[in-house]
Amino acid sequence: MQTLINKRILLGVTGGIAAYKSAELVRLLQEQGSEVRVVMTKAATEFITPLTLQALSQNPVYTELLDTESESAMSHITLARWADLVLISPATSNFIAQLAGGHANDLLTTICLAAQCPLAIAPAMNQAMWGNSSTKDNCKTLLERGLHFFGPADGLQACGEEGSGRLLDLESIVNGISSVFETGALTGKHVVITAGPTREAIDPVRFISNHSSGKQGYALAEAALEAGARVTLVSGPTNIEAPRQAQVIQVDSAEEMYVEVQKLILDTDIFIGVAAVADYRPKTVPERKIKKSEVASNATWLLELVRNRDILQSVSNSPNRPFTVGFAAETDNVIGNARDKLTHKNLDMIIANKVGDTTVGFNSDNNRTTVLWKDDQQELPIMSKAAVSSKIIALIAEAILKDKDG
Ligand code: C5P
Repeated sequence: MQTLINKRILLGVTGGIAAYKSAELVRLLQEQGSEVRVVMTKAATEFITPLTLQALSQNPVYTELLDTESESAMSHITLARWADLVLISPATSNFIAQLAGGHANDLLTTICLAAQCPLAIAPAMNQAMWGNSSTKDNCKTLLERGLHFFGPADGLQACGEEGSGRLLDLESIVNGISSVFETGALTGKHVVITAGPTREAIDPVRFISNHSSGKQGYALAEAALEAGARVTLVSGPTNIEAPRQAQVIQVDSAEEMYVEVQKLILDTDIFIGVAAVADYRPKTVPERKIKKSEVASNATWLLELVRNRDILQSVSNSPNRPFTVGFAAETDNVIGNARDKLTHKNLDMIIANKVGDTTVGFNSDNNRTTVLWKDDQQELPIMSKAAVSSKIIALIAEAILKDKDG
């Protein structure tokens, strides 16, 4: 099973002998499904070449803070925002001290300071340096700030000494990274998610559909799995791979999606309607292809459409309804329209996003959203669909807990 699917890991390599192991680490992280970008300190480049890590990560390796060329391609802020997690491996005592001191005197320290995602470090250094009280104090400070530590391990060191300070074995680092994403906030819950577009047949060869890629719905399924939930995805046709642990029910039309969702409602704790469901379908669908000559006039073809049933509303109005979450893809008056929908569709939560901008929303890997519920709302910055999903799942878990307590 790939545990880091679609995760963006920024690997920071600092200048210790264990830096040579970062080549293998890049490969292991990729095997778990993540995309890796590497940032190296100057000292790290003495131990392993940027070229090696560039070839393995299939991305440019960044080393300089004030390099106009790499800054114009991806600035330190863009890199910090890009990452779902920053992992420093190996982390030298010097780097740990810089982090604890809040320094921003090279690219990697600056990224760490700018990053709003989780930060993890895998220390590697001589046993005496690891045991030194200033290193201990620095680590204590970082732990208190919520950094994740992996290792170090005990054993024989590169310098010939024995003790604690070896880089933790790479498999354990990768497992540790996976567990950072596993919150357990929805353990025992069954989450049903609709995703992707629907196809409304006109005849056996033509259909009406939309630009939904399914990425946001699938990313939410992934985030719900990471939160410990059992997940069922009711998905329209997409070109992307569904998370392997999710149960996937493939459908084509809105009506098929409606029928499948009805079968699941009684056994659902949380329903998230992400699918871009067609509101209308052709009234009649002949069994054979409609010929050009058969339509009323050669210049225009008037299709008669009938309204599809609203899946989300059917869930929110069902007896013993699950916690019900909708999406509002809007081109204008985004928040106003979303709040209206929250009320008239009787939802517990709605996620509003502006569509029509190709850098976010439909088909893009990023999304900028606002999460709205009855008495509040929260605007999320532009983030990867994976990061948006983790945030939405955390907000849902929080709301459910509040419902139970209140
Ligand atoms: O009303 P509108 O289609 O804009 O509402 C969007 C929300 O409703 C989305 O969450 C979408 O998945 C859901 N929806 C649905 N069934 C429909 C139409 C929309 O579940 N027939």
